[in-house]
Amino acid sequence: MKSQYIDELKAGQSVKEIFVLAKKTVKDKKDGGFYAILEFSDRSGSIDGISWDGDSLGDVSAGDFVFITGNVTEYSGRLQVVVNSMSLVKESEVDASDFLPSYSGDVDEVLKELKVFRANVQDPNLRKLLDSFFDDNEFMILFRLAPAAKRVHHAYLGGLAVHTLSVLKLLKSIQSVYNSLNLDLLITAGILHDVGKIEEYTYKKSINISDRGRLLGHIVIGSDMVTERIRHIVGFPRDLKLKILHMILSHHGEKEWGSPKQPLFPEALVLHYADNLDSKMEMMRQISARHRGQNKQWSDYHPFLEREIYLGEES
Ligand SMILES: [Fe+2]
Ligand SMILES: [Fe+2]
Repeated sequence: MKSQYIDELKAGQSVKEIFVLAKKTVKDKKDGGFYAILEFSDRSGSIDGISWDGDSLGDVSAGDFVFITGNVTEYSGRLQVVVNSMSLVKESEVDASDFLPSYSGDVDEVLKELKVFRANVQDPNLRKLLDSFFDDNEFMILFRLAPAAKRVHHAYLGGLAVHTLSVLKLLKSIQSVYNSLNLDLLITAGILHDVGKIEEYTYKKSINISDRGRLLGHIVIGSDMVTERIRHIVGFPRDLKLKILHMILSHHGEKEWGSPKQPLFPEALVLHYADNLDSKMEMMRQISARHRGQNKQWSDYHPFLEREIYLGEES
């Protein structure tokens, strides 16, 4: 167990602790020599850092575990660590769970609720499709662990399951208003819409995008995974297959948000809005959590929401 976590660091404090070196950019000093702009992370978050002695940092690279000594200061409204020394720490010497953010609740409870949704699907072909994923232990281990993002929303172990469950709850409520929607189709596509994320990210030492994730993205990976499972279900109806695949491919809603197709029937439209709402609500939650106790009226500019968020009146 570490004794200092990033979200507990305060200006004026001295630091002697292991972190993941998330970023390292070495720059020239005007008067010769180098300085380094750094970022450190652990399971609680990330913090900027700076080292005025960039020459001494040659043996550590981004992604390494490092032991640092230094002091926390405030620089243009943000905390940063001014690093005095930094040395490489072997992977075998750290407890990985200290460095990867994970769901604060119980992921197994989330999976239990998800399985209730799955059990209520009546259509025999959709049931078979869901069973082929849920009865596959290897898949379930990854689905239980996977984050839903590297940074933007649900960027922690278990985040994919948490996000999927919220989307299912939204879909069920929306269907209670628009009764003509096919609930079995909504729930099946809701469960499967982001399954590609189990391969889009790597989540051993820190959360990162995998090569497949960079080159194909979770929408294509997920559509391939579902196509492959359907191939093994004899007599799976063509129309149902096209609908499920379309819902996965169109769930980001717009081409510029990564979907090759816009939603072309009601269930696809509803899945897109439920997914979009849950990811944006999570961004809003993170923004308020990050600014808690800072006595600020407006958040910093959020690059995904493309706006500053009102946090309430300063006290
Ligand atoms: Fe997605
Ligand atoms: Fe999603």
